Amino acid sequence: MTAEPFISLRSVRKVYRSKGAEFLAVSDVTMDITEGELVALVGPSGCGKTTVLKILAGLHGADGGTIKIGNAKTPFDPARDIGMVFQQALLLKWRTILDNVLLPAEIVGLPMKAARERARGLLKMVGLAGYEDKYPQQVSGGMQQRTAIARAFIHDPKLILMDEPFGALDALTREQMNLEMLRIWRESGKTIIFVTHSIQEAVFLGSHCAVLTAGPARMAEYFPIELPFPRALPIKTTDEFGAYARRIYARLGLSA
Ligand SMILES: Nc1ncnc2c1ncn2[C@@H]1O[C@H](COP(=O)(O)OP(=O)(O)OP(=O)(O)O)[C@@H](O)[C@H]1O
Ligand SMILES: [Mg+2]
Repeated sequence: MTAEPFISLRSVRKVYRSKGAEFLAVSDVTMDITEGELVALVGPSGCGKTTVLKILAGLHGADGGTIKIGNAKTPFDPARDIGMVFQQALLLKWRTILDNVLLPAEIVGLPMKAARERARGLLKMVGLAGYEDKYPQQVSGGMQQRTAIARAFIHDPKLILMDEPFGALDALTREQMNLEMLRIWRESGKTIIFVTHSIQEAVFLGSHCAVLTAGPARMAEYFPIELPFPRALPIKTTDEFGAYARRIYARLGLSA
């Protein structure tokens, strides 16, 4: 018997409506995600990736299909079991790094003394021990993004949604963050859905890869990436890695 999926999307559809006009953003997305996977969601700009994340986060309703998160083993409370990381870190500049990480704990109403300890541990996990009392403008863009990642974990959510979290970083910092991301994922055991434009990033990070078509999004392909963990950056030069990348390029119609 296979385990019941943690997340199950069936024929999800989303129409944006404004001023009487309708725009079909997502036409048909179906996927099952097992708890603990890191799913890389790739697709062309504007295809509907952020829309899919917003539907998963409950920020948008769908106009068709079904979305189920949680199962008998792991119940899911959308009000507190989601952590989000966006393309920009979106830190509050008048709060220290530590107090930024604590924000969701305040919102959810966690006991603050324990949350403060947990925040320190998370800052250590993302490599920011010693920066607790700095302000966002005193640290680099990569460090701000690490802070945003720590913040997404503070209330111990069961699902972490990341929307192009490293899109604004330079190439080397991004590679470094990819390595850290794998470590954090493996240490935390969380289910993560990670949106990226980068095929390399998708193959490097993903335990699975979901390829969306140009908008309105349909699921073009959903497959496991069976490269062994732990993965180090030189894996990107292997034939196996290249084969996965070529498969995604082909799916996106970028092979010619
Ligand atoms: N609130 C909205 N109202 C109307 N149309 C919208 C709205 N939000 C997004 N769209 C449209 O829906 C489509 C999908 O948008 P979405 O932001 O999900 O794409 P994306 O894949 O995340 O793009 P990118 O890679 O550039 O971030 C786009 O054509 C966008 O213009
Ligand atoms: Mg987007």
